[in-house]
Amino acid sequence: MQVQPFSNTEIQAFRAATAGTAERIHLNNAGASLPPDIVVDTIVNYLHEEALRGGYETEAKYRAQLDHTHTLIAQLIHADPDEIALVENASGAWEIGFNGIAFQEGDEVITSEMEYVSNVLGLLNAQKQYGIIIKMIPNDAAGNFPLQALEAAITPRTRLIAVTHIPSTAGNILPAAAIGEIARKHGILYLLDACQSAGQIPLDVQAIGCDMLAATGRKYLRGPRGSGFLYVRRNILDKLKLSFFDGRTVTSVDQQDFTVRKDARRFEWYEKNPAIILGLQKAVEYALNIGIERIWQRIQHLSTLLRQRLRELEGVVVHDQGDELCGIVTFSMSGISAAEIRTALAAKNINVNIGFAKSTLYYMNRKGLDGIVRASVHYYNTEEEIELVCRELSTLCLVKTQL
Ligand SMILES: Cc1ncc(COP(=O)(O)O)c(C=O)c1O
Repeated sequence: MQVQPFSNTEIQAFRAATAGTAERIHLNNAGASLPPDIVVDTIVNYLHEEALRGGYETEAKYRAQLDHTHTLIAQLIHADPDEIALVENASGAWEIGFNGIAFQEGDEVITSEMEYVSNVLGLLNAQKQYGIIIKMIPNDAAGNFPLQALEAAITPRTRLIAVTHIPSTAGNILPAAAIGEIARKHGILYLLDACQSAGQIPLDVQAIGCDMLAATGRKYLRGPRGSGFLYVRRNILDKLKLSFFDGRTVTSVDQQDFTVRKDARRFEWYEKNPAIILGLQKAVEYALNIGIERIWQRIQHLSTLLRQRLRELEGVVVHDQGDELCGIVTFSMSGISAAEIRTALAAKNINVNIGFAKSTLYYMNRKGLDGIVRASVHYYNTEEEIELVCRELSTLCLVKTQL
């Protein structure tokens, strides 16, 4: 498919519609992106209306619009609105899906070395609680997820494949659809952590073949903090245990029994923050209107440029490895800690973050990494910003060597 690159006019329009871009160079999109102004305005206006009319009364007025959030998220990932539950973050989404599985002692869960800390904790907890066996598949020497190793690890006791699409502190991408093909061939449940890929890469749960997908709103989707969603394929909805209940969970309740609602909203709490839901909806709508394919193309362009420029700097090591890389760029500079780099850049109004060993435990431990710099680009960043950041890094390096 031919993807039309953004024109300079379009990029400038995106930036003009994002107040934060005038203030600083934001390369912490993998932490939380700068939201478009429309997202912020939607939230603030809703909160004002709530304060004037009352929370329940305002919710009643916006009921249909709030419900439309599921529809737009479904559109984003090619699911059905009934397969979407709105939650507060990706960790929560992942845990609702994972803890919904009735594990038995000796069940095997296959994962990758790129898992995020929340997922690793969930796996370790299930190991303690039920006696599951965790099988972790390391990347191959080129930094790619080895599909043959995955297939070879499958046994009749394999209950779940749980992998992260884009890791928190590395630039690689796991082959989500090829993993899904293997999961389907062997009839194994498949849970995908799409926390860093939602809004960055086109996601199609039909093509990927996952049964569950966990995502957050504040990262590449440019939504508000405290927003996220869980996708659960319709045919496994009834196979998952519920970990919490309130009036939202059921369609009826009497003194003896209750009936669980048919859709994935059974995994939602009744009490949510409607302003945040509407903000998330605006962010998803904004991304859909721009086009995820175009967003992805621009992110690839900018991150490739950033890696190139970083490699030209003396003493810089770019850690990202793999055939397909994303908007997350990780690096270290010899003699300068990640914390020093972040502080020096922050003084110049440049945001980057630090990737600690804990975040992507297996991978970072194997590579002996801790405290690497994570610079993550989004489509609204510019080539000029990247050149400026690299100039600052080069100056920092010079100052350090003169000390
Ligand atoms: C790959 C990955 N998965 C899951 C999470 C957890 O997301 P949240 O903080 O929304 O729970 C993160 C957060 O950085 C992440 O990078």
